[in-house]
Amino acid sequence: MTIRHARRTDHTGIAEINTLAFGKPDEAALIQRLRDDGDVMFELVAEVDGVLEGHILFSRLWADNGRFYAALAPMAVRPALQTRGIGSALVRSSLDNAREFGAHGVLVLGHTGYYPKFGFLAETAANVRSPYSGSPAFMALEIDPGAFAEPVMVAYPNAFAG
Ligand SMILES: CC(C)(COP(=O)(O)OP(=O)(O)OC[C@H]1O[C@@H](n2cnc3c(N)ncnc32)[C@H](O)[C@@H]1OP(=O)(O)O)[C@@H](O)C(=O)NCCC(=O)NCCS
Repeated sequence: MTIRHARRTDHTGIAEINTLAFGKPDEAALIQRLRDDGDVMFELVAEVDGVLEGHILFSRLWADNGRFYAALAPMAVRPALQTRGIGSALVRSSLDNAREFGAHGVLVLGHTGYYPKFGFLAETAANVRSPYSGSPAFMALEIDPGAFAEPVMVAYPNAFAG
């Protein structure tokens, strides 16, 4: 398996994987809107034997403390290849990338049975004010220690409002 940054020529394959994995086209549309609005921090893809099988996207958040935070959303693995570690490899690589991009911390709204194994916790997001605050599915991971120690308000890219 190879994990690399997505290219423009991957966009059709990324839309296909997201539509298959989520069973609807909404996430593919969200991804395109994030790109169009210039809100994407980076996108990674996983290739197995040269075929695109997984995707993860990080976007920029606005924060009232002037720090640089990222949102993980969405991520998807082609259904036929799920539970083989592709998703975990994508999350781990993306966290390394987020650190290189200078992100202070990362937020995710996602499966409570999946993200904690990478270090995302709802408790860590307790100081974060956002449209998703209070949900157990709203989890945070500090890249820089103390990234979420103080109260912080974040705003998501407009694409998420849809
Ligand atoms: C979530 C997803 C990206 C994981 O990809 P993956 O390649 O299957 O992940 P991995 O192989 O690294 O990890 C598989 C493990 O995660 C678990 N898992 C997968 N989806 C899960 C979910 N929704 N809730 C809890 N655990 C989940 C699997 O049961 C498996 O557990 P195990 O390691 O104990 O066997 C993939 O299932 C997917 O595309 N789902 C549909 C889209 C989606 O829900 N995206 C995430 C939105 S927050």
